Amino acid sequence: MSISNRRAEAEAFIQAHAGEVNPAYRPRFHMTAPCGWINDPNGFSFYRGRVHLFYQYAPYTSSPSRMYWGHCTSEDFVSWTYEGVALAPDTEADSEQCWSGTALTDDQNRLALMYTALRPDADGKILQEQCIAFSEDGRQFVKPPCNPVLSARHLPADSSIHDFRDPKVFRREDGYYAIVANRGVSSGRQLLFHSDNLTDWTYRGIFLEGIGDMPECPDFFRMAGQDVMITSVIGLPKDGLRFQSQHSDVIYLVGQTVHDRFVPERMEAVDLGPDFYAPQSIDLPDGRHVMIGWMQMWGEISPTHYLDHHWNGAMTIPREVWLQDGRLWQMPVRELTAHRGNHQRWENIRVNGRYTLERQASRWYEMDITLLLDENGQAELRLMQTGHEYFRIHYDAGTHILTTDRSRCGWSMASDDLWEPKPGGRAVVPGGTERIALRILVDSDSVEVFVNGGILAMTTLAFPRERGSGISAAGRCVIERMDLWDII
Ligand code: FRU
Repeated sequence: MSISNRRAEAEAFIQAHAGEVNPAYRPRFHMTAPCGWINDPNGFSFYRGRVHLFYQYAPYTSSPSRMYWGHCTSEDFVSWTYEGVALAPDTEADSEQCWSGTALTDDQNRLALMYTALRPDADGKILQEQCIAFSEDGRQFVKPPCNPVLSARHLPADSSIHDFRDPKVFRREDGYYAIVANRGVSSGRQLLFHSDNLTDWTYRGIFLEGIGDMPECPDFFRMAGQDVMITSVIGLPKDGLRFQSQHSDVIYLVGQTVHDRFVPERMEAVDLGPDFYAPQSIDLPDGRHVMIGWMQMWGEISPTHYLDHHWNGAMTIPREVWLQDGRLWQMPVRELTAHRGNHQRWENIRVNGRYTLERQASRWYEMDITLLLDENGQAELRLMQTGHEYFRIHYDAGTHILTTDRSRCGWSMASDDLWEPKPGGRAVVPGGTERIALRILVDSDSVEVFVNGGILAMTTLAFPRERGSGISAAGRCVIERMDLWDII
């Protein structure tokens, strides 16, 4: 059967079936696809005045299968316009799947994509190689016949061509560079390649090594005189609550590039919730650096799949990121504040046991709250509450451990996968004290928490059965101030 029609066929399927999606848990202010499965953000870029976001897309199913690139655009990072299927596995070079990669504006002002193409070798084993595609208008992409542009012939001898993926491409004065994740014999690594035209590439060397079994989805940028690498690492050694290695850890490394090699000086987790993966980031013309991640994790089974809602997966709220005291901080894009409505404020509430907020119910809101605890005190916020169900955010002022917990909140995401998903996040708040400030975004199926101005983030999905919107506090603390806005 010919594969050359796959893009049009997928698009026709999406148009015909998007209306069958069950909206119960559809996010209100997070990007999602018209139907089907999504995972990694791809090709996050700024082109001709709009933000472009591509993503790993299996439109026919609500679980992962053959991957295409979906495409959407936005002017404010909050409302997204679906732009269609950008890439389908429809040529000999990418006949199996189109996996993750980068978009960038090339020197002819085209939007260029570089992505991992999967195809079988002569024995039927699946190769991972890199292909390119170009667009003059940011919508229709043409794949040149020279694909694949990075393949086994470019690789050093000890490399696996079956684990060679997720190119991060960027431009410097002397041409284009690509950093590509690869499995070597002894450990995972990232390889560096150089090109003058995005088509002809030469191998430059190992850019980063010794980081777990497979440092997937590299994202790399310069910020405040430093080089920053963000990568989603399979098999990083566990280290207390810092690197928890359930399936993978999303980490950032801050350092310098010396002779084509990245020399990290510091390494930390990017988000310690269970539902954050494969982030990409962009520089905006106004000087901000914005990151977006897949708001889910491998090994989880989403209720939107097993309840047959015909969709599965969303992106996190895009986050402004910056370096401060050697750490990467993050807070939701400021554009979100334009979607605030129905403001309510509470001040100086003493909680001793339980305190329930009286408020109009909305399931989509933003909360800004400062809690003051006793030394060694415990405090808890309960969100999405109805009956006995609630989502729990707990802070222990003795250990400075912040916990998010969906285990009492609705449908399970557990699977019999090798990696049993976490019921929530746990992290020690850096520089934590008895006072803690939380900015919390609650959408239909997610809770994102940003701590003390952005030094820590935790992203957790939750699927309450009753879809409640109750809020209460428990434990002993003073709510010094709490602002609440519906997101409209
Ligand atoms: C990470 C990842 C990538 C790959 C893509 C496939 O989530 O496994 O390494 O390119 O997803 O969908």
